[in-house]
Amino acid sequence: MEEDFRALEFVDGALRLIDQRKLPAELAYYTARTSSDTAFAIKDMIVRGAPAIGGAAAYGVYLALQESGDDRALFRRKCSLIRSSRPTAVNLMWAVDRMMAEAEACSYVPSRVLAEADAIVREDAAMNHALSRIGQAVIRQGDTILTHCNAGALATCGWGTALGIIKEAHFSGKGITVYADETRPRLQGARLTAWELMKAGIPSCLIPDSAAAVLMRDGRIDLVIVGADRIAANGDTANKLGTFMLSVIAREYGIPFYIAAPTSTIDPGTASGNDIPIEERDPDEVRRPGGMLMAPEGMKVFNPSFDVTPHQNITAIITERGIAYPPFDKAIGKLLNGGML
Ligand code: MRU
Repeated sequence: MEEDFRALEFVDGALRLIDQRKLPAELAYYTARTSSDTAFAIKDMIVRGAPAIGGAAAYGVYLALQESGDDRALFRRKCSLIRSSRPTAVNLMWAVDRMMAEAEACSYVPSRVLAEADAIVREDAAMNHALSRIGQAVIRQGDTILTHCNAGALATCGWGTALGIIKEAHFSGKGITVYADETRPRLQGARLTAWELMKAGIPSCLIPDSAAAVLMRDGRIDLVIVGADRIAANGDTANKLGTFMLSVIAREYGIPFYIAAPTSTIDPGTASGNDIPIEERDPDEVRRPGGMLMAPEGMKVFNPSFDVTPHQNITAIITERGIAYPPFDKAIGKLLNGGML
């Protein structure tokens, strides 16, 4: 099964993105014609979600090559602009590095570089389908699942991770119900996950982020599944702000807490969560959500976009190559060596 929309697509020499700033009011598109358009689209969250950012960046590198001709120093500068457009999702750095390595290996032949970007996108969708099937092992008939942010088709190059598992469960007749956190301040849960859940016809309910504790305390959540922006070698996981809080509550009430992510989200260069750079975004995302003033002008704001869930709070990490259970460093080491779990 496939979605009837694509977060990103390369059409007629340009990168066509669903403009996720405008959903659900409008399904509009943004066309990135240059590498700097691509960097802007990532920074401004026209495209967002770790794997979708990686896919967009891959085409951005191809555009950078087209713009640079034989000037390799210019190409590298354009690539580093894309690479630094957001700091936390490691799929961004992973995709840019893979594209640059391929460019060098194929002597900068544009068609080969474009084929590598297509491969990244194709592989991401395939990994999501695979992990969605594998993830069925943790979902029982009639479960009620809590999710946070958006880890669906919009956040990936196709199908989704946490939401991919949820959709697979629904379409295979498991009779699940989903609670979606609205996910302050950018409301990816309310604007994007709710849109995807309704399109898929999944019984679901939107909650303010702070209602999650009540639902978990009252035994109304069977499991939590969320995506990831970067998984450290010890299993510590960065994901959308609020994920850490959910993990603490889930642990308090003995509720299984799962991370779903392709292995491209595992960063072998990051030993633990302490080493993951956390993006801080514009204070106006909090002061003026949707452009409307909701706090006094000039009020100081702390707006980290992500937080780190310590591996001790994670029940398992669901990947396209199997489910990693603690001790995570051993399981992740095996995955990084190309193994299956
Ligand atoms: O700031 P965003 O919207 O890019 O954050 C997205 C998330 O935190 C997702 O959960 C994560 O990238 C996984 S997407 C499959």
